Amino acid sequence: MSSLSLVGLQKTFEPGTPNAKVALDRVSLEIADGDFITLLGSNGAGKSTLFNAILGKFRLDRGKIILDGEDITRLKDYRRAYHIGCLYQNPLLGTAPNMTIEENLALAYTRKASRSFFAVNRRDTAYFRDLLRELHLGLEDRMKTRMGLLSGGQRQAASLLMATIAEPKLLLLDEHTAALDPATAEQVMALTRRIVAERHLTCMMITHNMQAALEVGTRTLVMDSGRVVLDVAGEERAALSVPQLLEMFQQKTQRSLDNDRMLLG
Ligand SMILES: Nc1ncnc2c1ncn2[C@@H]1O[C@H](COP(=O)(O)OP(=O)(O)OP(=O)(O)O)[C@@H](O)[C@H]1O
Ligand SMILES: [Mg+2]
Repeated sequence: MSSLSLVGLQKTFEPGTPNAKVALDRVSLEIADGDFITLLGSNGAGKSTLFNAILGKFRLDRGKIILDGEDITRLKDYRRAYHIGCLYQNPLLGTAPNMTIEENLALAYTRKASRSFFAVNRRDTAYFRDLLRELHLGLEDRMKTRMGLLSGGQRQAASLLMATIAEPKLLLLDEHTAALDPATAEQVMALTRRIVAERHLTCMMITHNMQAALEVGTRTLVMDSGRVVLDVAGEERAALSVPQLLEMFQQKTQRSLDNDRMLLG
């Protein structure tokens, strides 16, 4: 549970070449402790790049990132990983498919316990079993099953547990239900809401689902061409319907389409 400040984030990929791409364009955001942001935007809008910037996957051209009062702009990505949990569309990213569920959980847990992976004791095992039982997926009896053998939904649920077991300061979800069938996606989304609420996590979730973007979380952002073009929260957000959000989305992202048309025409 922590606040996050993004100050003037700027990133151009392949600068000075014909492929130069401004992926983040002066992104500034104040995210309060306990905020749950849903992030929308067309393909290529810069959503995943924003997450990668927060995770320290590349050097920014400009800008500052402050997590829980600490300037992490120059912190190496593996050191940020202690404080930031993340989940991707592909359930296998971020987990070790050849290790068992229990081993994966133990590995994730050592981040918090700051002790050796091999020191996981019986009490920890019992704790993992309790957590898995709460998922209601029958995984508590399959702790010795290799992660790679689980179904997509089971893996995402287990991955969610792993991403949050060390109580991260920030949880980043990049379309984490997009590869699941609708019923399973709904289950994993419900689980996400529960875990975020129970652990009072500060969370950002990328989705292409307008309904989920409004129903889940506390604040909705839209990105376009590397910028945040819409930011709604509170009563304004509560009063929004999905068709209204869709219309705002189209209006706010129209600019780039018109620009493209102007360039072409
Ligand atoms: N490592 C990279 N090198 C070069 N270009 C990149 C790199 N990462 C992202 N880009 C470009 O930056 C832009 C933003 O990409 P990004 O992946 O952030 O989009 P996105 O909003 O997550 O889209 P999607 O909804 O398709 O996942 C795209 O034009 C992409 O091609
Ligand atoms: Mg993306």
